[in-house]
Amino acid sequence: TNKTFTMLKPDTLEKGYVGPIIEKITAAGFKIIAMKMVRLSRADARDFYAIHKEKPFFDELVEFMVRGPIVVAILEKENAVEDFRALIGATNPAEAAEGTIRKLFADSISENAIHGSDSDENAVIEGSYHFAGREVF
Ligand code: GTP
Ligand code: MG
Repeated sequence: TNKTFTMLKPDTLEKGYVGPIIEKITAAGFKIIAMKMVRLSRADARDFYAIHKEKPFFDELVEFMVRGPIVVAILEKENAVEDFRALIGATNPAEAAEGTIRKLFADSISENAIHGSDSDENAVIEGSYHFAGREVF
């Protein structure tokens, strides 16, 4: 499809990088069709990252994601999922390409500033988890 879902993670809000990151996203041609600030519960975070529940970093990941508010959004662009993953860069900012959001704004693999859906199917699941129909434009 032409949509993806993103979260600006707690480190981004703590460091005041919401504005600069949204600027990068829109400058790259993504249109924001839904956006709000929320705080995940532990149940939300465990559910969102359930695929990683056996990983050694799972508890650390959940505690990070509930540390403070996040910004969630649905973005629209041709080839949205793949192009957005390219824009945010590798999971580990140390390995992320120059100019990518994680290279510019993230500190570490555990606090890496931003999420982007990894498939069209997950983009729909993640977007509908956070937004009612009347919140998507
Ligand atoms: P998301 O967009 O957040 O899903 O990141 P990703 O798709 O680039 O990476 P992945 O789904 O493999 O991992 C999910 C999240 O778990 C990452 O974004 C990191 O926040 C965290 N994570 C992944 N690998 C590690 C690790 O080795 N150590 C720690 N502490 N956290 C990790
Ligand atoms: Mg992932």
